[in-house]
Amino acid sequence: MPPERPDDLQEAALAHLWMPTQDWSDLAENGVTFFSEADGVRIKSADGRWGYDGMAGLMLVNVGHGRREIVDAVAEQLGRLHYANTFKYGSEPVARFAAKVASLTPGDLNRVYFTSGGSEAVETALKIAYRYHYNRGEPNRRKFIGREGSYHGTTRGALSVSTSPALGRSEYDAILPDNFRLAPQPAYYRRADESLSLSEFSLRCAEAVEEIIIEEGPETVAAVIAEPVSFSAGVAVPAPEYWPALRDICDRHGALLIADEVITGWGRTGRWFGMEHWGVTPDLMTMAKGITSGYFPVGACVARDAVFEEFKGGPEKTYKHGITYGGHPAGGAAGLANAAIMEREDLVGASERLGKRLLERLEAMREHPAVGDVRGLGLMCAVELVSDKQAKTPLADTPGAVETLARRLDQGGLHIRAGKQAFFAPPLTVSEEEVDDMTAIFEQALTATEREIGLA
Ligand SMILES: Cc1ncc(COP(=O)(O)O)c(C=O)c1O
Repeated sequence: MPPERPDDLQEAALAHLWMPTQDWSDLAENGVTFFSEADGVRIKSADGRWGYDGMAGLMLVNVGHGRREIVDAVAEQLGRLHYANTFKYGSEPVARFAAKVASLTPGDLNRVYFTSGGSEAVETALKIAYRYHYNRGEPNRRKFIGREGSYHGTTRGALSVSTSPALGRSEYDAILPDNFRLAPQPAYYRRADESLSLSEFSLRCAEAVEEIIIEEGPETVAAVIAEPVSFSAGVAVPAPEYWPALRDICDRHGALLIADEVITGWGRTGRWFGMEHWGVTPDLMTMAKGITSGYFPVGACVARDAVFEEFKGGPEKTYKHGITYGGHPAGGAAGLANAAIMEREDLVGASERLGKRLLERLEAMREHPAVGDVRGLGLMCAVELVSDKQAKTPLADTPGAVETLARRLDQGGLHIRAGKQAFFAPPLTVSEEEVDDMTAIFEQALTATEREIGLA
């Protein structure tokens, strides 16, 4: 239902709502944008205008908006058994969904620990990694290696290995754990050495992880954590050699490999899970977002058989870690209904197919003065926005440029994130026509912006 008195809503939000990461002065001046309903890949703002949800919310509404089937499954479960002590008791949908997740994840990733979101999934993985080594008699393996520009979550452990420009550890350095090191991100566009091929550059990035492990002492390193393709680092797609090399390095030095699939999982890159592109099975895989397409808050950390093996035994082996809403019955019901839709409609195949079309349409804009690079895998694409192609100067450094683009996009009815990059991650149900329409709106907005700021 659209709000009857939008002024009251603004007043309530501005007086009482603390919105994540929002610049207060901007909110105070421009107010809060409200959405009132959504259907498929479209979303309606409170002023009655429909637009494209080009980011699938926060890269998660994979099966699209308005799926009655999931709503009904959640409602039915809430009506029958809405909650039971998740530490001590199981529930049918959660057990069934654990089996479903295990059947979809690659290799022997068979043991599923449910959480209420991605940060908790990462927190769970980091703690499992530490206790895994502890249980094996290597309690000194306490360090974690992450990568520059990655984002793994907002809780203390996850944030300690996060340095994404938007949400990173820098502002909280003083209160965060310091048992971490950062390796380079295989983000080829801004490589320092222009003479390197993508393969050479990616391999060097993997080798840098090994150098850090050796420098720190392999007996002190618990795990390496990385996204298959880092969204926060601007959709940094590595060369095919990168992931097998990283797997090999971790194996040789006894460190666990954690693949953070919170964004890349559940079809986003054209495979069920991003790691399948490289045939690499991580020791731990974290996921959230598309696991229920946002119809219920769920995350998970999935472990290989060999990892779980170390937690079998008496109390001294037990993984002591629990989350009240991890394994919520309605989350299991939402996950099962979401997976059923994805399988029935082959949304993973659609992501691969439509992702190619989206990338092609964006590639066709390379001649634009503000387009420095175009990257993507499946329905996860980024356009690098620059004001000077040669110098690779971010467009965001030109005062007002990104704001102008955002305004034009809003006028055109395309909701995407534009900053250092313009990101596209629509629901996997997007049609060919909708891909064409969204990219056309983007190109119009870009052209208008380039003219307005004197680039064209
Ligand atoms: C790769 C990655 N890991 C972890 C998280 C944290 O997930 P959540 O916001 O559900 O806690 C995010 C969130 O965007 C993410 O992108």
